Amino acid sequence: MIKKVAILANGGDVAGFNAVIRGIVKTAENNGIEAYGFIDGYTGLLKNEYIKLSTASEGNAEGILPKGGSIIGSSTNANVFNYKITKENGEVEYKDLSDVCIENLQKDGFDCIFTLGGDGTQKSARDFSTKGVKVIGVPKTIDNDVACTDITFGYNTAVSVAMEAIDRLHTTGETHHRIMVLEVMGRYAGWIALESAIAGGADVALIPEIPYDIEKVASKIKNRQSRGKNFSIVVVSEGAKAKGGEMTIQGTRNNGQGVDNTKLGGIGEIVAKQLEQITGLEARNTTLGYMQRGGTPTAYDRVLSTKYGTKAMQLALEGKFGRLTVIKNGKLDDVSLEDVVGNNTQIGAVSGNTEQSNLRKVTLDDDLIKTARSVGINLGD
Ligand code: F6P
Repeated sequence: MIKKVAILANGGDVAGFNAVIRGIVKTAENNGIEAYGFIDGYTGLLKNEYIKLSTASEGNAEGILPKGGSIIGSSTNANVFNYKITKENGEVEYKDLSDVCIENLQKDGFDCIFTLGGDGTQKSARDFSTKGVKVIGVPKTIDNDVACTDITFGYNTAVSVAMEAIDRLHTTGETHHRIMVLEVMGRYAGWIALESAIAGGADVALIPEIPYDIEKVASKIKNRQSRGKNFSIVVVSEGAKAKGGEMTIQGTRNNGQGVDNTKLGGIGEIVAKQLEQITGLEARNTTLGYMQRGGTPTAYDRVLSTKYGTKAMQLALEGKFGRLTVIKNGKLDDVSLEDVVGNNTQIGAVSGNTEQSNLRKVTLDDDLIKTARSVGINLGD
């Protein structure tokens, strides 16, 4: 019998975190179960810092459905299986502190923990599950790249924000006869770029899965020009790269050891400069950045997050652990965490959305690729 559950939100924030939390807490309360939230993801689990969550009148989880961010915070640098410790003499060492987390859970009588996060978070969740912890994962990320699910929560909001940016770039680009480049997030997957390009009616979409030839992009723009269209919209995924080239790296993140610390970004500027040189048209880049993560979730994300939250608590009630809630062929379902992060078998091995992990990337036979090509969106190939 489950009596007391805990939630943690981990990794980069997305719109919908709170909606999932609310879904779990409400379902828990309806079944006479107490729900708690660890503060700042796995960090809170390690430090045993948590709060009781309540959707009762004046409760801290009341009215949070439309709220951006996470009421229990989130951590982007807490790989507790490889945790960074700075000693008094300034020396840094990395330790596996997962057993401390497990003791905390046992000591305070938590029957189960919900891990809201992307690939890296679910990798740790699987590792905890292997050590006997009752875990249920919920797939979060604007990048939409978690394996085994059609969609992650937060993604739809990110696409909507990018679409609105494209709409706005359209009017300024048209007025000044410019090439307007929009760099969007997504890491090694081009979902945000591709879907927002279709939704916003862009002319070009460059994604990591299809290395581009800048001359092909320029031809598309020149062709538009020859038809009297003196402006173009180019959406570039942060992970896009030229044929035979490398991804553009902005720097290094401080997300701990054993996780992906590559800070992508900067490709939008490069593409804009190259297109300006080749076409002779003025080009401007806009990097959308964290706008894609912040703010209120779309209706779609509110519903998806609510489905995921309630399903997660339902799984706990059924005693099904070591699972991830997913949407499979449009239906709410669950899969084993092992299937999700299966190639990351080694405890403490590199996790997070690295190119090597089993991320769900855009495949060339995806409907979105066909749709984009059919409406004349140039994919740089
Ligand atoms: O994974 C989500 C994401 O927003 C990526 O799209 C982006 O590359 C990255 O996180 C940025 O991470 P950080 O918050 O560490 O800057």
